[in-house]
Amino acid sequence: MSPSKKLSPPEIVARQLEDFYELRRQIVKILTPINSYAEPSAAEYREILDSLQENLGEMEDAARQLHQFYQEAERRLDQVLKASSSIWTRPTGLKPSKVPRFTPIENRPTAPGGGKTRIVSFINLKGGVGKTTLTANLVAAFASGAFRDLDGRANRPARVLVVDLDFQGTLSQRCAEPLVLQGAYQKGLTSTKLLDTRAEAKVAFDDLTVPFLGLPNARLIPADDTLDDKDVRRLNELASRRTETRYYHRIWFHKPAVFEKYDYIFFDCPPRLTASSVGALVASDFVFMPTAPESFDVNAVSRTMNWLGKTRKNLSLSVQFGGAILNRTNNEKGLTPLEEKNKNRVKLAYEDFCEFFPDSLNITPVLDAFVPRRSGGNHINGVDGDALPGASLPCFHRLATEIYRRIHQ
Ligand SMILES: Nc1ncnc2c1ncn2[C@@H]1O[C@H](COP(=O)(O)OP(=O)(O)O)[C@@H](O)[C@H]1O
Ligand SMILES: [Mg+2]
Repeated sequence: MSPSKKLSPPEIVARQLEDFYELRRQIVKILTPINSYAEPSAAEYREILDSLQENLGEMEDAARQLHQFYQEAERRLDQVLKASSSIWTRPTGLKPSKVPRFTPIENRPTAPGGGKTRIVSFINLKGGVGKTTLTANLVAAFASGAFRDLDGRANRPARVLVVDLDFQGTLSQRCAEPLVLQGAYQKGLTSTKLLDTRAEAKVAFDDLTVPFLGLPNARLIPADDTLDDKDVRRLNELASRRTETRYYHRIWFHKPAVFEKYDYIFFDCPPRLTASSVGALVASDFVFMPTAPESFDVNAVSRTMNWLGKTRKNLSLSVQFGGAILNRTNNEKGLTPLEEKNKNRVKLAYEDFCEFFPDSLNITPVLDAFVPRRSGGNHINGVDGDALPGASLPCFHRLATEIYRRIHQ
């Protein structure tokens, strides 16, 4: 590296760490004989302390720079998000007669369970908060009847379709047989097709779905990394005002044949604004927002609500805010005082955005049901073909019941 090249903060820290490890090697070498024979002299100790002191100072400098770098990156991320969010939330240029139709719940044909299909998105612009885990377990709960109806009676298993809209395909990998998934990927039968209306005329909807973890009542539309490229292309087309790319999921899902087949359609959204997450929102009746109960995560909730609200208003959407769901709480029985405090911060954030959701005002913005942290997390993942415990754990039973109440009011 040429001496004139300015190092970036991460490079500075990496270099400091290298120096630090080298110094540690030397110190260990000097100190090792302590227990055997030769204690280092006072002068040698002084030397060790001096170099440690010096190293510490440099590390502190580097850490300060790294912190500044982090803040700058966060500021730029906000700018980028604002720019892309202003594209996604911009009003449609289509004439009302050209906007693909949203069939209101009451006008849909009867679903297999005798009611009307509900379409629900699980969204949060932050990753790692449990969207996929909760969605997958809720599919298991609904598809096996592990929830109660409005009168508190046990429910029959429902027919559920879940759609993976994250190109990372976590839900698909956790909940579909690897060989089946491979087949779908090879044939390109994934949620990437949902961003294509020409495909809609050619591909049979049912061919996009695969079995979900062996549950007879649940199906899955898987995702793979081809979705990323398509999402970006659809963003560019919208940005350059060439094509209105936000109504594809409405076209695919608001069809009698789909309504007749499923009681519930769940969208597992990515933690980003993409053609797919916006498309899901445009097609949905309700949106739920999984979040961890930590303060950083709660900030993401208000950012997500803001975006949802603007999209809803500018595109005249009928999607309603179903509520935020606390995931990974510390205890099974109740919330800690800190978690209660963060729950209240969600409530405050919601009040700010109520102007966007006036018809959702009669709900409490955070669900009473929450999902505690499980050790290792894996046993609520459904990895390696394990059944998801969403059908049997009381927390998911409570959650599915509360969601059922909210979407069937
Ligand atoms: N309640 C929970 N207890 C323990 N681990 C959890 C819990 N919920 C999620 N996890 C773990 O956290 C990680 C992120 O969850 P995931 O559902 O993929 O988040 P997201 O879809 O929001 O990115 C996963 O490894 C998952 O196993
Ligand atoms: Mg996810």
